[in-house]
Amino acid sequence: MTLQIVSVIGGKDGPAGTPYASVNPARPDETVATVQLAGADVFADACRTAAAAQREWAAVPAPVRGRVIASIGRLVEANVETLARLVTQEIGKPYAEALGEVREIVDTCDFFLGEGRRLYGQTVPSEMPDKSLFTFRVPVGVAAVVTAGNFPVAVPSWYLVPALLCGNAVVWKPAEYAAASAHALYRLFTAAGLPDGVLNIVFADGARTYEGLDRALGEGTVHKVGFTGSTAVGRTIGELCGRHLQSPCLELGGKNPMVVMPDADLDLAVEGALFAGFGTAGQRCTSLGTVIAHEDVHDEFVARFTAAVRDAKIGDPNGDVLYGPMLDHKFAERYEEYLAWIEPHHTVLPGPTGRMEGDGLFYHPVIVDGVRAGDRLFLEETFGPIVGVTTFSTMDEAIELANRPGYGLSSSIYTTDPQAVFRFRAGVSAGMVSVNNSTSGAEAHLPFGGNGKSGNGSRQSGMWVLDQFTRWQSMNWDYSGRLQKAQMDVTEITPDLGFRL
Ligand code: UN1
Repeated sequence: MTLQIVSVIGGKDGPAGTPYASVNPARPDETVATVQLAGADVFADACRTAAAAQREWAAVPAPVRGRVIASIGRLVEANVETLARLVTQEIGKPYAEALGEVREIVDTCDFFLGEGRRLYGQTVPSEMPDKSLFTFRVPVGVAAVVTAGNFPVAVPSWYLVPALLCGNAVVWKPAEYAAASAHALYRLFTAAGLPDGVLNIVFADGARTYEGLDRALGEGTVHKVGFTGSTAVGRTIGELCGRHLQSPCLELGGKNPMVVMPDADLDLAVEGALFAGFGTAGQRCTSLGTVIAHEDVHDEFVARFTAAVRDAKIGDPNGDVLYGPMLDHKFAERYEEYLAWIEPHHTVLPGPTGRMEGDGLFYHPVIVDGVRAGDRLFLEETFGPIVGVTTFSTMDEAIELANRPGYGLSSSIYTTDPQAVFRFRAGVSAGMVSVNNSTSGAEAHLPFGGNGKSGNGSRQSGMWVLDQFTRWQSMNWDYSGRLQKAQMDVTEITPDLGFRL
């Protein structure tokens, strides 16, 4: 029997809604789960439930909350294979990558379980005697988290784990087409002992989510929105939050450049470009957009890259393949639109483009050589197995090309010259820079996030994400027994500023 999934709010199953079938993209006839999509009212209700549960959760000592995070990590670790298999089945991510994705949740838990015993505030000297100053991290309240399905469990954990550790309650709206994976992760989180209402999962489409979010923000039951998805949707969420004087945590698209310098190890660069461009069928926000190859090595790079792509295995994600199918029909259709951006001045390699024979949503890998800075293919994100190639002659030109599309998530440079590395790092607009490494595959304890069209400067992961899920509160305590006025009742030590040697 097909798995039946419904939202869970306050520990109870939500009402039936509009049925949606989450299918296996490698075999679209196979339904992985039937999901009941909720309306805006259910989303708003979940936010109310979360708000009611949050105070008590915030009162649980942070080290105890850290122990819950530790338990989540253990539970995920004990269920690695089952969860990874489900991810592979539901979104077509190759099993080896799915295992890595699940590992990323454990890494995130490993990092934050200790944060339960830190969550440091500061003691700060006062400008007056008998007075002390302090800072405290305070949970924001309720976080509404809306996530994409290309990383159906790892990226959500980047939000859920620190949000819960910091004492917030969460309403999580995962991608419909990854509902079974999300539901499984939700169950692992609750098995760790989270009180009812502290983590709620709502399945809904984009329009209903937006409407529910609007209502909840108006009611004051959401205090932070986390969103991973497209730049276009990120803009609408940013606008909505702005109206409510909130700054969301936005992790959006990318058009991630890879610069290949004349002194690069070309085989290494090809290996990096292959994984960055075609791993996860090019459906990572960190996927490679355009290779910017120095004119002296361009032809050789393209020849080797084309050969590597031609030899790559694409197919059943349970096997040893470079990539499997597109995540979902929606992504396959959109990808076909991107293919239409190929122009007569482009050289398409290794040859075939578009959907492969058979039922699954498998697509040929495409290298488009000769892209120009004004091309749509150069300027916009193309979620899917397509990589552009262009050339440069000077470092300034490489940096200018890397920044031109106006995104700023990830970037990479292949070189053996330290001067080139640091010039590129300083000049590139991306939040993340790889040296002699792929644009994708960030580790879970460095700041993850972008600038420009890739986000609003917010960062996830590591200690940096704490600023998303806590607010600083300062306290001053005057124990002098008098009113000491700041800036006025301050002792001054008079210097002799006319003194000269
Ligand atoms: C994403 O595609 O939204 O750095 C996240 C990487 C992964 C995360 C990608 N660790 O490619």
